[in-house]
Amino acid sequence: MKAKDIHDAAVLETPARPVPRIRGGALFGNLRAFRDDRLGFLARCAREGPVVGFRIANRLFHLVTPPEGVQRVLVDNAANYRKDTRGQELLRDLLGDGILTAQDESWRSQRRLAQPAFQRDRIAGFTDIMVRATREHLDSWEPRARSGEPFDLAAEMSRLTFRIVGLSLFGADLDGFSDEVGRALGIALADRTARATSILDRLLGSHVPTPRNIRWKRAVRALDSVVERTIAERRRRPTADARDLYTLLAQARDDATGEKMSDRLLRDQVLTILLAGHETTANALSWAWALLSTHPAVERRLRAEVESVLGGREPGFEDTANLRYTRAVVDETMRLYPPVWNIARSVVADDRVSGALIPGGSFVFLSPWITHRDPALWPNPEGFDPERFLEPAPGRPRFAYFPFGGGARQCIGNTFALLEATIVLALVVQRYRVELVPGRPLEPEPLITLRPRDGVPVRIRTVRA
Ligand code: HEM
Repeated sequence: MKAKDIHDAAVLETPARPVPRIRGGALFGNLRAFRDDRLGFLARCAREGPVVGFRIANRLFHLVTPPEGVQRVLVDNAANYRKDTRGQELLRDLLGDGILTAQDESWRSQRRLAQPAFQRDRIAGFTDIMVRATREHLDSWEPRARSGEPFDLAAEMSRLTFRIVGLSLFGADLDGFSDEVGRALGIALADRTARATSILDRLLGSHVPTPRNIRWKRAVRALDSVVERTIAERRRRPTADARDLYTLLAQARDDATGEKMSDRLLRDQVLTILLAGHETTANALSWAWALLSTHPAVERRLRAEVESVLGGREPGFEDTANLRYTRAVVDETMRLYPPVWNIARSVVADDRVSGALIPGGSFVFLSPWITHRDPALWPNPEGFDPERFLEPAPGRPRFAYFPFGGGARQCIGNTFALLEATIVLALVVQRYRVELVPGRPLEPEPLITLRPRDGVPVRIRTVRA
């Protein structure tokens, strides 16, 4: 990290480009417009310029769209941008000091500790777990294929990815808890999102027993109890895998004091990985099916690739390198529906980003949802065309596409997620045809992650050999 850049006077000497500001109310600024339609509001900002200012209550924000601006914030001057945002503060109530929300030395030591569990050779070793869990899950769909009963594919993807993360990283089969987690997480995400823009909630705090606070506390208790049972189950099976993430965390000693990680920090770590490790991948897969079922030509090509690479057998790790179109479907899905649709940072000191002056004390939004759909970067930006990810695109800047963020705080689970999504897509397509139940178009719901608002209602049919 180039900490010196924080106060890099040379960067600030050149005259700043004027920054358009979105007008809002005198008291709360653009709070209402943002709260009522987050994606629409950001799209409206992006039409005004590459860097656009707006106010939410008393806080000044800038939406930064150009890839070089994203790079400045996430990589080139990352030390100037911190996770001291209202969203992170709210997330910290749930995830405590886990790796996603921690900062400074606490984050650094956690990242160092967890990194070996996410190395490529370790991830490759999870292929069999991913394949087996998916096979078992797809077996359970047989009655649905026979009856033609509609069901919510988003909930199914969430159950599956939750089981996979539990088995792979913690050696624990959490299948029995997935519905409980799904319910609690749904409540928790909606709560955090609503609270981020609610003045009343901020005034009341989380201790007054309002219906919302009661629901929230129940959801946290439910998640806590799943973590406790995860840890208990893993402790009952100490021989499962001596190098898995659980072992790394449970055996870690503080460099300075030589002490073990406290129970509280272990809880924060396990909950963070369980949630971050399944919700986003489930969203990516849910959107993939929503898109595939409305783009039959893409689906046919995907099916043909899986047939020609695997010919009916299950994939091993080496096969995934040949499932190039399948992977491109995953990439293109996350271009259009990035599971993390917005990345927020607080600004330490004045900086120049894409020519605009960004004042210290304000906040920036980097939005994959916006940059991934920028017509200046993506021809036919609204079209679903996996082809564009098949070949390297030399003219496309690195941060035209950043579903996993970037820099030191880039997603630790990106290789895991891409492998998992590729395997799940291939295995589903081998066995079933997925059809969206006709009805209202699917609508993205931008909570902390980008979920399909009412799930993804589908019917399936067995593929005949
Ligand atoms: C398609 C799936 C996924 C997407 C789109 C995604 C996206 C992201 C993004 C954008 C960030 C950075 C957030 C920021 O800079 O503010 C992030 C961080 C993180 N992700 Fe993921 N993620 C995915 C899957 C996973 C998986 C499978 C795991 C774990 C098994 C995981 C664990 C984490 C953790 C622990 C962090 C925090 C890293 C740090 O701050 O050092 N993610 N993810």
